[in-house]
Amino acid sequence: MTTQPQQAAAKQNIEGIKHIVAIASGKGGVGKSTVAANVAVALAQSGAAVGLLDADIYGPNAAIMLGVEGSTIHVQQGPKGQSLEPIVNHGVKLVSTSFFVRPDQAISWRGPMLTKLIRQFFADVTWGELDYLIVDLPPGTGDAQLTIANSFPITGAVIVTTPQKVALADARRGLKMFERLNVPIFGVVENMSYFIPPDLPDRRYDIYGSAGGEHAAKTLEAPLLGCIPIEIEVRVSGDAGKPIVLAQPASASAQALEQITQQITVAVTDLA
Ligand SMILES: Nc1ncnc2c1ncn2[C@@H]1O[C@H](COP(=O)(O)OP(=O)(O)O)[C@@H](O)[C@H]1O
Ligand SMILES: [Mg+2]
Repeated sequence: MTTQPQQAAAKQNIEGIKHIVAIASGKGGVGKSTVAANVAVALAQSGAAVGLLDADIYGPNAAIMLGVEGSTIHVQQGPKGQSLEPIVNHGVKLVSTSFFVRPDQAISWRGPMLTKLIRQFFADVTWGELDYLIVDLPPGTGDAQLTIANSFPITGAVIVTTPQKVALADARRGLKMFERLNVPIFGVVENMSYFIPPDLPDRRYDIYGSAGGEHAAKTLEAPLLGCIPIEIEVRVSGDAGKPIVLAQPASASAQALEQITQQITVAVTDLA
């Protein structure tokens, strides 16, 4: 393993895509897909042209969260080879492995197959003109992250974590990997930051000792983009395929996600 910065190899620009924003985490289950789906929908609501690339090949959940589970993707044979037509809902164009496999089918492709598929998801999809391509990464620092960071010009990465020490430790590893690969870090999203009981919506319980995300930002040495509370509605809306920014825009979680989306647009503009 090298600790040297990787050489910037020739990266493939994808025609028509202005900004690629990667949503990453060290651990699974911290809310990456939830953040990716909500940010994508919030951007689309603001009038931007948005795609969501589900790069979590072995655990694809984006189709459920966007309410297009079970859709069939169309593969066209063109003069330049195969092209895939994304599935559109809530104003977001989505591509995911879940469109290619049955729900009960185990996905156990080896590394080269994963790499090939991820490249196809970027390059062989008729994304059209996009202001933002949001990439829902798998957890950790594996083949998918390396392939994407080395092959495509990621505008910036957002690291999602929960406040616990174990999540932060893994998030730090993920963040360091992006730094080594010369991918700019937009900042940290602290999810499940505090709990709002549905029957007492004015109460806040700091279950994991978040202290308002301060500890996360300090540990990761990165700007805090926002703190999302634990709210039952976040899970319910995700399962129902209607992200909380659409289902309950006035909720504390939706407000936090809108603020995070806003911060991402600012970070993108600052880099331009
Ligand atoms: N802030 C939250 N409040 C309540 N449930 C949440 C919250 N964030 C995520 N969840 C739920 O936790 C589970 C894991 O989230 P998910 O976004 O799939 O994580 P990841 O993509 O990092 O594995 C999902 O069922 C999701 O609905
Ligand atoms: Mg996920």
